[in-house]
Amino acid sequence: MSNGTFYVTTPIYYVNDKPHIGHAYTTVLADVLARYHRAAGDDVWFLTGTDEHGQKVEKAAAKNGMTPIEQCDTTVVRFQELWKRLGITNDDFIRTTEERHWKIVQAIMQDLYDRDLIYKAEYKGYYCVACERFFTEKDLIDGKLCPDCQREVDTIVESNYFFRMSKYQDWLIQYITEHPDFIQPAFRANETLGFLRKPLEDLCISRPKSRLSWGIELPFDKDYVCYVWFDALINYISAIGYGVDQARFERYWTSCIHLIGKDILTTHSVYWPTMLKAIGLPMPKTIFAHGWWLTGSRKMSKSLGNVVNPMDMADKYGVDAFRYFLLAAMTPGNDASFTEEDFLQRFNTDLANDLGNLLSRVVKLSIKNFGGTLPAPPPLQPLELELLSKAALAVKQLENELNAMKLDRGINAVMNVVREANKFLERTAPWTLAKEGKTDRLAAVLYTAAQTLEIVSGLLFPIMPEKMTQLRRSLGLSEEEIVKTDFQSLSEFADPSATKRTMVDMPPLFPRIVVEKPEEAAPAKPEKQKKQEVKAPKTKDVVVPEGMVTIEQFFKTQLRTAKVLEAERIENKTRLLHLKVDLGNGDVRSLVAGIAQQYAPEDVIGKTIIVVANLMPAKIAGFESCGMLLAAKNETGLKLVTVDGGDAEPGLTVG
Ligand code: ME8
Ligand code: MG
Repeated sequence: MSNGTFYVTTPIYYVNDKPHIGHAYTTVLADVLARYHRAAGDDVWFLTGTDEHGQKVEKAAAKNGMTPIEQCDTTVVRFQELWKRLGITNDDFIRTTEERHWKIVQAIMQDLYDRDLIYKAEYKGYYCVACERFFTEKDLIDGKLCPDCQREVDTIVESNYFFRMSKYQDWLIQYITEHPDFIQPAFRANETLGFLRKPLEDLCISRPKSRLSWGIELPFDKDYVCYVWFDALINYISAIGYGVDQARFERYWTSCIHLIGKDILTTHSVYWPTMLKAIGLPMPKTIFAHGWWLTGSRKMSKSLGNVVNPMDMADKYGVDAFRYFLLAAMTPGNDASFTEEDFLQRFNTDLANDLGNLLSRVVKLSIKNFGGTLPAPPPLQPLELELLSKAALAVKQLENELNAMKLDRGINAVMNVVREANKFLERTAPWTLAKEGKTDRLAAVLYTAAQTLEIVSGLLFPIMPEKMTQLRRSLGLSEEEIVKTDFQSLSEFADPSATKRTMVDMPPLFPRIVVEKPEEAAPAKPEKQKKQEVKAPKTKDVVVPEGMVTIEQFFKTQLRTAKVLEAERIENKTRLLHLKVDLGNGDVRSLVAGIAQQYAPEDVIGKTIIVVANLMPAKIAGFESCGMLLAAKNETGLKLVTVDGGDAEPGLTVG
């Protein structure tokens, strides 16, 4: 990462409705990039804001019985409060109703008009109210539907002002082709080039006030207001002083990265560059379009009632865990699925089990054996050096992935080191070293693990600033050291003999979230196995819809026929039966099932049932339970799944 300037923007969000997870994602991503660059010593400017003009806002205001500006003033607070809550460190927040913005929009329009880059003409077109975009006949689906949202469009004939966008088509094609960093990921550049294969038309940039009055008035015709997109895009330059504070503008502009969702690619990759070209300005460095957050496999929408409210997530599970999830679970560029179940799983695995556990082991052992201050360790041994070099490698990996906008992969590299560190503790067994009085070795092991934690917590700091502050404080770092998280410093290990830090114990960083399952007979997995559990890698590009499994996933579950040999009640457990079942080939197992209220032992003996054969064994009510039987349930009871005819031999594969 260079010691340069870094200007990052989010889209300015419409104030017609409250913010949702998509808005939160783009803004958290921008925040994390800004924090990494600040840590690297870059001169950072981070801009977000709200898009307050146009029909969407005007309509929302009417619906809510407010004036448009009341609608804006009310809704903007919800965005600002959310950003505060999510720890967003934007340097500026622009509202397009502010004078510093609309004055610049007017100045630009006047200039383009004076240079004949804006002209008046009669227009027949199609307009999608929801998308606030005009289309020509050939754009439409079936001659009447919006190509984006597939709603029916309105037909409009009127006089309007046009920006000579068509003039820049060849230039834009060439620019995109010659600047592979300009539109990212690369497939979005191709998408834009595909769009530019058709003749580019001029852009209608006005709306007659008779139809829409909530907008910036054209400086050369007071009967019109400016098209909301033409107004909105200019925020990226008006906010940093274009036309007012030229020095500040020049300092940041060409380092700019626009983060956007894929829904607004064309406006950013075609309208905006041609506007800038006409104004006579250089291009931003990069336009990066990320994918959609889906609920399961479906688009989030109000009508489907599946919109995730980021404020609720932060309240329920904590800000940092939510930030972590957003960044770890989405490969920027691709779509990702959000379900609370995925969230909880990642929380419990990555944060509670892996990271939280590592910290509490290291701190507790250090306090117990050394009063929290580790002595200078003897020379490190290969296992120790290996872990430290893995941690150092993760610094490089994260830095590289970050520069390639593959933050999820960078995070994964860091979390792998955390998992390695836990394995390292298991192999070196500091608790045994303590018992055996091998103080020197114990100090070396704890030093290594603490040093690893110091590195990973520094790497994760921009993602989880609050939690990593607590973690680093617990390691005994000074307030100054806590925030020193640049890649360079993190890859230089503290001198073991010089670190006289005192670790302090703290309540668990990420207490495990226990999900209440109504299913009582599902055996709880023993603690040890839980930690070693390997999650199936997620397919990157294919989103498996919520509640669905792929055939590969399904076939991981081995279902087999089994014959019940014995059954007995369990003392004091009115719902449980202890069974002995035969799975064929001499595989006779003990199994505990929650069926005692519906089935007496003698009812089930001799039945051929279906069993999940490869379920992790567990101890239930004092008995081994190796497998789970299948039963159909409703509120009143439960019926065993048996095999047609009842006489199938045990051990047959079901599926
Ligand atoms: O388009 N998944 O504002 P907007 C991921 N005012 N990101 C999502 C998302 C989802 N499901 N839904 C929304 C506008 N986003 C204009 C922008 S910029 C000059 C003007 C994010 O309130 C994503 O960043 O509709 C998307 O581009 C943005 O919200 C759209 O926000
Ligand atoms: Mg939108």
